[in-house]
Amino acid sequence: MSKNAIVIALDGPSASGKGTCGRYLARKLGFRFVDTGAMYRTLTWHCLRTGVDVQDTARVVAAVRSWPAELRLEEGEVRLRVDGYHPAAEIRSDEVSNTVAKVSPIAGVRVWMVRTQRECLEFGDLVMDGRDIGTHVFPETPFKFFLTASDEVRARRRRAEGSRDNTAERDRRDASRAVAPLEPARDAVIVDNSHESPAVTAEFMLAHFQSRKLALGL
Ligand code: CDP
Repeated sequence: MSKNAIVIALDGPSASGKGTCGRYLARKLGFRFVDTGAMYRTLTWHCLRTGVDVQDTARVVAAVRSWPAELRLEEGEVRLRVDGYHPAAEIRSDEVSNTVAKVSPIAGVRVWMVRTQRECLEFGDLVMDGRDIGTHVFPETPFKFFLTASDEVRARRRRAEGSRDNTAERDRRDASRAVAPLEPARDAVIVDNSHESPAVTAEFMLAHFQSRKLALGL
C-alpha cells in the first residue's frame, strides 16, 4: 500500500475508551484498526506459554527476535498471529493483564514492536491505538488524539467488564517507565470522555479529523 497512508494515533491509559472509539472511527472512515496493546499482550502470552521468564530481559528480547509472528488483516483489523494463531481470548486473561507491563518497558521489545507497527502501513490507512503512537511510532502524523477519563470512571468501566486487572498499577508502570512512557504528544488533542458515550467521543474525533485533513489539503 501507499507510503502516503494516513495514520490516526490514538493514545491513552487503560479503560480510556481507545478500543471502542478507535474501532468506531476506523469503521466510519474505512480505515484499518490496529490494537498495539494486543501486540504487547500477545508477546506476553507467548513468553508465559513457552516458559520465558519475563524478569529475564535478555531472554524476552531473544524471544521477540525469534518468535514466529506475522501481521494479518482480519475483520478490518491488523493482528499479530503466532504460528498462524491469533490468541484473542488468551491475551485478555488476568495473568497476561498483570504481566504485560513488565514486558512492555523492555527496550528491545519496543524496538521490535515499533518497527512492526510501522509495517502496518502496508495494509492502508490506519487508526492505531496504544500508549506511544503519537510520541514514538508515528510522531510525524498530524492526526493525534489522547483519550482520558477520570480514575473513578475508568475503574468503574473495568469492574463492569468483570476484570481483576490491576489497571492502576499498570498505568503507573506505563507512565513512569524510562522508554516511551505513556504521555500525550505535544500536538495531541486531549479528549476527556468521562461523561460521554463512545459514539459521541468518536464522532467528535471524526469531525476533528475531517476538518484538519481538509485544512492540510490531504
Ligand atoms: O487493556 P488496556 O486497554 O488497558 O491495555 P492495552 O492497550 O491492551 O495494553 C496493554 C499494555 O501494553 C499496556 O498497559 C502497556 O504496558 C503496553 N502497551 C505499550 O507499552 N505500548 C503500546 N503502544 C500499547 C500497549
